[in-house]
Amino acid sequence: MIEMYRSKNCGELRISDVEQEVVLSGWVQSNRDFGGMTFIDLRDRYGITQVVFNSDDNEKLSEGARKLGREFVIKISGTVRERSNKNPNRPTGEVEIEVKEMEILNASKVPPFTIENETDGGEDLRMKYRYLDIRRNPLKEKLMFRSKLAIETRKYLDNQGFIEIETPVLIKSTPEGARDFVVPSRMNPGQFYALPQSPQTFKQILMVAGMDKYFQIVKCFRDEDLRADRQPEFTQIDCEMAFVTQEDILNTFEDLTKELFKGLKGIDLPDFPRITYDEAMKKYGSDKPDLRFGMEFIELNEDMQGNGFGVFDNAEFVVGIIAEGIAGSYSNKQMKELTEWVQRPQIGSKGLVYVKYNEDGSIKSTIGKFYSDNDLNTLKEKIGAQNGDVLFILCGETEKTRKQLNELRLEMARRMGLMTKGDFKPLWVVDFPLLEWDEESNRFHAMHHPFTSPKKQDQEKMMKGEHETMKGLKADAYDLVINGSEIGGGSIRIHDRELQSKNFDLLGFSKEEAEEQFGFLLGAFEYGAPPHGGIAFGFDRLCAVMNGESSIRDFIAFPKNNQGRDMMIDCPATISEEQQNELSLKSTFVGSNE
Ligand code: AMO
Repeated sequence: MIEMYRSKNCGELRISDVEQEVVLSGWVQSNRDFGGMTFIDLRDRYGITQVVFNSDDNEKLSEGARKLGREFVIKISGTVRERSNKNPNRPTGEVEIEVKEMEILNASKVPPFTIENETDGGEDLRMKYRYLDIRRNPLKEKLMFRSKLAIETRKYLDNQGFIEIETPVLIKSTPEGARDFVVPSRMNPGQFYALPQSPQTFKQILMVAGMDKYFQIVKCFRDEDLRADRQPEFTQIDCEMAFVTQEDILNTFEDLTKELFKGLKGIDLPDFPRITYDEAMKKYGSDKPDLRFGMEFIELNEDMQGNGFGVFDNAEFVVGIIAEGIAGSYSNKQMKELTEWVQRPQIGSKGLVYVKYNEDGSIKSTIGKFYSDNDLNTLKEKIGAQNGDVLFILCGETEKTRKQLNELRLEMARRMGLMTKGDFKPLWVVDFPLLEWDEESNRFHAMHHPFTSPKKQDQEKMMKGEHETMKGLKADAYDLVINGSEIGGGSIRIHDRELQSKNFDLLGFSKEEAEEQFGFLLGAFEYGAPPHGGIAFGFDRLCAVMNGESSIRDFIAFPKNNQGRDMMIDCPATISEEQQNELSLKSTFVGSNE
């Protein structure tokens, strides 16, 4: 047989190739035996080609073909011919190969799940056999998309004069709000490296070093609770620029986003709207609103209080949303189920009030005792509801109620099918608070991270340091949100040592702690730190959102499951006693033999 594995791949033969002699190699996708004829679908990364064995031509060859199991690796040579029974759903569907020779390159066990677009394998099983899962089109395509997205990102940033610089992975802890993964040092007993939650301090140091316009497509590590859009190790498009204002950064990265959508999806995005954090919370109860649908919050204290309905009268905040056109399709039973939904501990609302404005003009509500139809019609006019709409109302403490109504808004959008795939609604959320008061620990936390600069007009207030005014400080911090997913976040940084020290002080670091943890950064600030700022995009999230998916897992070749485990290599795992000894860890393990 010819001494080559392939002259063509399994995705490229067309009707114009008929009569050609070709060699193909790949995996057996399916094997159909019709007596004298055996049809094999041969698959590789590029596609599937039908290859045919005819027992009239060569009985021995056909017999061999009949025995081929799924996922066997074979090489065939033969002639391209036109198919009588064409498959219009496949680019190669007009042709097939009449096989002259076949060689089995490797056998395969029966795979534990079907290697089809729709598979019968559960998540953990698919992760354990990730190499089989990646043979499936959906995964393969996601990884190919990811590769293209990285390449286009590099091209764009290179064109803009950015320099890709690698920063270390074994570092000292950087506080980004999550826990660190740590690595014990053999040469320094009892001491640990931390894996970076992001290259934040390094990229700032690079600005001090004069390497204006840095970027890196970089792995970050965070030991936090996992969700569909969170992995313990994930990738950022991380950037930093010197001598820039917030405006420069937003423009650069809005442009990058538009280029990526244009290049990879063929979509022209309009200019991104910008809303402040306060406005986002007021209108949507979330700092990452999904703008594919409306249902903006309507504040109802003025309209609903004072009618003798104690629940509203005693509430700090009464707020509603209008779900358009669902009055007819929501039965009492469904309303009851929705009420139970908002009362689940995850949402935590005490109850749900609704006003159904029926198509025929009648009204059905849970508060008819306190509000006449007349009252509710006046309200309808005022808030712009129509016949057929339902007004949902929640009440309680302001911040909590907003969060609950955000959940209900998203749930209603899900139920009403308003989260349209292929519709992209990016926006910038700007003017985040600098600090967040944490009741539990009774101290401030940095809303973004401790290196974020307060707005210029707030810097004086911050240096004065009166506790109450601190809660109102606003930062030059911004997030890019697309379809309700936080794609990126960044800020203008503090570049003044005194202001940075003050910030550490507000965040509860003693002078010594700040010096010990961030002395290198504070020190660098004493040697001519330029004004600077930056942003990082969640690369995995960007991949997922651009493909209308909520989970980032399948855009990562080898992800972890929800328990943070790699099911394929089976880790985390224990290490040998010898290794423990070497790392001076042994005594810290409960149950060790000593
Ligand atoms: P931030 O913490 O907002 O900012 O992270 C930037 C973006 O990274 C993504 N992201 C994640 N993606 C997957 N899994 C995770 N566990 C995860 N955590 C975060 C999000 C997020 O918007 N150093 C700053 C950036 C800066 O200020 O320049 C930072 O890391 O999409």
